[in-house]
Amino acid sequence: MSGESHAADRTVSGESHAADRAVSGESHAADRAVSGESHAADRAVSGESFNPFSLAGRTVLVTGASSGIGRQTAIGCAAMGARLVITGRDAARLGETCAALQGEGHRSIAADMAEPDGLARVAEEAGVIDGLVNCAGITAMAPFRMTSEKHIRRIHGINFDAPILLTQKLLAARRIANGASLVYVTSTTAHIGTFATGIYAASKGALIPALRALALEVGAKQKIRANCISPGYVQTPMLDALNAGTASIEANYDLAPLGLGQPEDVANAAVFLLSDASRWITRSTLMVDGGLTVHVSI
Ligand SMILES: NC(=O)c1ccc[n+]([C@@H]2O[C@H](COP(=O)([O-])OP(=O)(O)OC[C@H]3O[C@@H](n4cnc5c(N)ncnc54)[C@H](OP(=O)(O)O)[C@@H]3O)[C@@H](O)[C@H]2O)c1
Repeated sequence: MSGESHAADRTVSGESHAADRAVSGESHAADRAVSGESHAADRAVSGESFNPFSLAGRTVLVTGASSGIGRQTAIGCAAMGARLVITGRDAARLGETCAALQGEGHRSIAADMAEPDGLARVAEEAGVIDGLVNCAGITAMAPFRMTSEKHIRRIHGINFDAPILLTQKLLAARRIANGASLVYVTSTTAHIGTFATGIYAASKGALIPALRALALEVGAKQKIRANCISPGYVQTPMLDALNAGTASIEANYDLAPLGLGQPEDVANAAVFLLSDASRWITRSTLMVDGGLTVHVSI
């Protein structure tokens, strides 16, 4: 990162005083779930200056918030005024994320979402939400001849089954407010299928049509939106672990004109998709990859 102060950085830094509005007594998710009023209408009545990226008064559930992209997404959402419910397996790292959140009223749930009990607990304890960002995920490189049923079940269990089943449980329990925005972090490889990532790519790629179908089912009446973000290479512990393995992928970073991404680059995209700034965007997939996946060879 260059250290220059970009507009996107300023947005996430909370200069708009979004966090102040979060504690100013605006209507809460549960109220909106019942009334079905739009967020923009709430703010127009309260006389606030309109900031389409604000998440003030909203409750956002972020999975995988104990590390990397999920942690930065939680930090970005809190800076924009949201109240957070964050999850991950590691309670200590989840606590570090919680300590970094602006505003009040945040909660954390330590749970293994690949296990039925952990998944059920997150769905039960999250309460009514206005936004969901599914970041929890794992990767492991394995060429086809070394792929096993165990590998498939492990990768798909957390990358595909968990976000789908979490969404289903929240919907069935009427815990997703009208007008909510659901965001699922997939991967550029879901669109390509890169070397030795077939199972991981499939686990992420399967999310895209599943959530397009969901967005049709909940869009017209409930105005619930569902979108995916496909990141390229992002500097996180997941990428560090890949590079520490046998197949270093550092050389690939330069394939993107904008090089290696940082967690805030994806977090800012998630804030956009959660906010009213994207209120006419649903069933889409945003490539956040520094230009990696569109090659220009001229
Ligand atoms: N970094 C990249 O270059 C990149 C590129 C494309 C897509 N992605 C995707 O972006 C998402 C975030 O990745 P990241 O790079 O931020 O990775 P990360 O730093 O390793 O974070 C992964 C997060 O997922 C959580 N998680 C994993 N298994 C879990 C389980 N069974 N139950 C609950 N939580 C679980 C981890 O929680 P604990 O640590 O507490 O267990 C952690 O919070 C992933 O879905 C990944 O596939 C990353």
